[in-house]
Amino acid sequence: MKLVDVYADRRSASLLFRLLEERQPVHNISHGKMPSYDRHLQFFHSRPYAAWYLIQFDADLGRPQPETAGAIYLTRPAGRARAGDEIGIQLFKEFHGRGIGSAAIRALMDAHPRPEYFANINPTNERSIRMFGKLGFKLKQVTYSLEGGFGAKAVRGDARQVQERGDVGQGGEI
Ligand SMILES: CC(C)(COP(=O)(O)OP(=O)(O)OC[C@H]1O[C@@H](n2cnc3c(N)ncnc32)[C@H](O)[C@@H]1OP(=O)(O)O)[C@@H](O)C(=O)NCCC(=O)NCCS
Repeated sequence: MKLVDVYADRRSASLLFRLLEERQPVHNISHGKMPSYDRHLQFFHSRPYAAWYLIQFDADLGRPQPETAGAIYLTRPAGRARAGDEIGIQLFKEFHGRGIGSAAIRALMDAHPRPEYFANINPTNERSIRMFGKLGFKLKQVTYSLEGGFGAKAVRGDARQVQERGDVGQGGEI
């Protein structure tokens, strides 16, 4: 397994779009609606993350093409807040449960040493919680949110923002 910079592989944008198509609400607390391919490309080319990799296996006798198991990123710190060092990961379904996620996270942390790493996990995503737990991550905070705001006017305004954020926002892509 190796991490390959997404900007070094011509197939990245379409592979990342396919990953987005597999994404379930349980996978990500900021799961939004599926962006158009153009919006996805716009997000991809904005270089939104400090590091963004395909998780790949080299071609060999059994694999004529390099095979992509998924993708992983590390967010940029926002200002002085260390909470920017957040890891996001998604594997294609057929690669789940083989230790690839844990190996990719270790490789990312080796390549990008930070004093602290964060992972925002949907509380119903048991697989991800167990994986990060086995890697030594500890529960730090529980975040509550009120979607749509408090009152009809706020609901309309915020719903629009949520939809826009879902298209291209932080954590809205992998
Ligand atoms: C979450 C994800 C990255 C985990 O990667 P993975 O390669 O499947 O996980 P690993 O095989 O490294 O497993 C690590 C640990 O997770 C747990 N785990 C793995 N598969 C599991 C399953 N099907 N059910 C419950 N726990 C599971 C186990 O504790 C496992 O360790 P063990 O096999 O030694 O007991 C991957 O399943 C995925 O891409 N899911 C969809 C996207 C997602 O949820 N991303 C995380 C957002 S925070």
